[in-house]
Amino acid sequence: MKYNFDEVISRRGTNSAKWDGLLESMGEDMISLSVADMDLKAPPMVVEKIEAAARHGIYGYTDAFSSYYNAVQAWLDRSYHWQVPREWIVFCPRIIQAVSLIIQQFTDEGDAVLIHTPVYQPVAKAVTLNNRVLIESPLTFNQGHYEINFEDMELRMQQGVKIVLLVSPHNPVGRVWTKAELERIGALCIKYDALIVSDDIHADFIHEGHEHTVIAKLSEEMAERSIICTSPGKTFNLASLEISNIIIPNDKVRERFMQGLRQAGIQNPTFFAVPALEIAYTACDEWLRALREYLSGNIAYTKAFIEAHMPELSVVEPEGTYLLWVDCRAVDQAENRLKQWIEQMARVSVSFGCSFGREGEGFIRINIATPRSVLKEALERIAAAYPLKQA
Ligand SMILES: Cc1ncc(COP(=O)(O)O)c(C=O)c1O
Repeated sequence: MKYNFDEVISRRGTNSAKWDGLLESMGEDMISLSVADMDLKAPPMVVEKIEAAARHGIYGYTDAFSSYYNAVQAWLDRSYHWQVPREWIVFCPRIIQAVSLIIQQFTDEGDAVLIHTPVYQPVAKAVTLNNRVLIESPLTFNQGHYEINFEDMELRMQQGVKIVLLVSPHNPVGRVWTKAELERIGALCIKYDALIVSDDIHADFIHEGHEHTVIAKLSEEMAERSIICTSPGKTFNLASLEISNIIIPNDKVRERFMQGLRQAGIQNPTFFAVPALEIAYTACDEWLRALREYLSGNIAYTKAFIEAHMPELSVVEPEGTYLLWVDCRAVDQAENRLKQWIEQMARVSVSFGCSFGREGEGFIRINIATPRSVLKEALERIAAAYPLKQA
């Protein structure tokens, strides 16, 4: 294969949150399948571009110019068939910053913001850290499949929800919301006059048989009340370069968000962010196709391994993302005992369900974006310490 995703590259000593942080707190022998970045190199063209930029040696202030916006526009068109005028695109370093700023700009303290749980907690925490009221609408889990409980959502919308935070596709449950579901969400937002903030950071990992729909594309009415958060961070493994693009069709909404950026003193992208995005969004489609294929292989491998060696575990079929949400309740509901098994005995770090809210208890999230040999060793360790192992 042209791209060697099997290559194991140590991330130790790179200040990696996923690896160095863990080794410091839990010891050298741990394998990390937790934090949602990849243990795989960014596309070679991105690496070369950043190397060349680094060699230039002058790291002064940077800005985004036409070639940057052209790259973003072409990407949105190619990936989601979404034609976006340049002025809708607002640079913001991180999506989490954008979500927080949106909450600050469009709600007052004490206002209600709705999210579907279990969910990636930093998005939910942006609500409570800003002294707003977090309204949780739990997803229903039926025969291994997560769905939005629209009756529950509507009841909660009646509490005066000002913003619906949508994670699309959803982290951690891996749902890719269908057009019909998004239409129902949109209808509720219109009926109860709520802004919709869609975090589409995982939208470039959609598995066969599913399709990502940008909620703002559903109608002009929806576009007018939508803020779509996009990023090459997950797609090309560029998280620490801090690049996201917040797409805001409504002029007034956009101006208010930009005022929030100015108030927070957030201005230009970093020196490496602009060339990295430009090359990733314009010249790396083939790499991304190969990566997706590799990740699909990892998903199939993990599912088969679990079925063969830990059949009481149940992998929730992922429709998108490189994260697997695994139901461990047949082994144990209690998170402390799951931690004892996986972290203490097997020496593997995964994301435990309660870190996504209380509905996550008894589940784990496994990040499969790692070379297959690392994944294999981690799974073998987990299976070797499996509490229900047959003698
Ligand atoms: C759903 C979701 N949103 C946002 C982020 C973080 O984005 P950023 O690094 O741009 O703040 C993550 C990272 O795991 C995520 O899963």
